[in-house]
Order: sequence, then structure tokens, then C-alpha cells
Amino acid sequence: MTDRGRFITLEGTEGVGKSTNIRRIEQLLATRGIEVVTTREPGGTPLAEELRTMLLAKRAEPVAPLAEVLLMFAARAQHLERVIRPALLAGKWVLCDRFTDATFAYQGGGRGFDVGVITDLARIVHADLEPDLTIYLDVPVVTGLGRIKEGERDRFESERIEFFERIRETYLERSRRFARFRCIDATGSLEEVQDRIVRSVQEYLDQCQ
Ligand code: TMP
Repeated sequence: MTDRGRFITLEGTEGVGKSTNIRRIEQLLATRGIEVVTTREPGGTPLAEELRTMLLAKRAEPVAPLAEVLLMFAARAQHLERVIRPALLAGKWVLCDRFTDATFAYQGGGRGFDVGVITDLARIVHADLEPDLTIYLDVPVVTGLGRIKEGERDRFESERIEFFERIRETYLERSRRFARFRCIDATGSLEEVQDRIVRSVQEYLDQCQ
């Protein structure tokens, strides 16, 4: 696996601006001549995108926490098999909007689901692979949520503020725990945030050479 591509993930709570910023990272990698596959979770393949639609839809039936976790990992297993592993093995870099850190943050931190079970599932689904670099965009929860219109909120975005506070705490705790994390202050103008991200990714790229 030594000349496999690098696996970069982008994480954050709601309304943090991941979609805009992922394009900036993609651009930066392209200017360095790196071939990159940009994708997202849950999703990234037709089947995984169907699971995403099911997961995000607001519904009258309460979703069992275990069902939610298993659906996240089902989508992830498909995504890994069809997109992520083949790209990395072909030497391409993969830039992924969320990965298993989101399950630890949302289902583990947010929902209070058993972290030991998430750890076991992560081992079953991707014992061979962890992100090489994780860019975590941090903003206060109220700032992020304020950017999403009430009528447009999906099942997760409709949760109470405490849910997102626990998610943010989990991300911050993981940022301190794992060296692959870069915690970026995502408050301020888009230009300021992008400058911080670019500096951080550039530093990583310099280390890779
Ligand atoms: P997005 O807002 O980044 O597109 O992600 C969709 C939602 O799915 C978001 O609210 C976070 C949630 N999610 C989880 O709860 N667990 C996971 O493992 C992943 C990947 C996403």
C-alpha cells in the first residue's frame, strides 16, 4: 500500500461550509498535479446515495439508533468497495466530505450510542484504512445552524441544539486525540477560512514530499 493515494476527510457540524471549502482543497491539490476523487458520506455511489436519502428524510417513524448506525456503515462499506479503495489503489487521492469520525460524533456523541459498537463496526468495515488527514472545521453551533433555513432542515438538522453541542465536543475531543486531525477555526469570512485551510493542507503536502 506504500504508493497508494492519500485519504483526506473533511468534517464539521451543520452549516460549517464544507461543500464550498472542499472545492478549494480540490483546487489546491489539482495545482500540485494530484489526481483527486471528491466524494461524500453518507453517499458516493448510487446505492449509498439511496441510503443517504433514507437516512436524511424526516419521517413519522422514530429511527432506532442501531438502525441508523448500521445504515451509515452499510453506505460506507459500499462506498469503500466501489469508490474509495479502488481510487486509492490506483494512486489517486480521495477527498471525502465526512467519514467514520462523523459516526463517532453524531451517533456516538450526539445520540449517545455505544462507542464500543461503533469502534467494532469501524474495524469490521475498514480495519485496513483510516484517513491520512482530517480537516475539522469548527464553528460555534449557533453560528452554523443559523446558516440553515428552518424550512430546509433535514432529519439531522432538525435536532435540538444540545445534540449539536455534543457533536462538536466529540469532534474537538477527537481533534486533540488524533494527530491526523487539523482543527480549523471556521468563523470569519470565507476568504479567511479558506486561507487557514489552504495553509494547513499546504503544510501537509510539504510533509508528504
Ligand atoms: P452532510 O450534511 O455533511 O451532507 O451530512 C449529512 C448528514 O448525515 C449530517 O447531518 C451528518 C449525518 N451523518 C451522521 O449522522 N453520521 C455519519 O456517519 C455521517 C457520515 C453523516
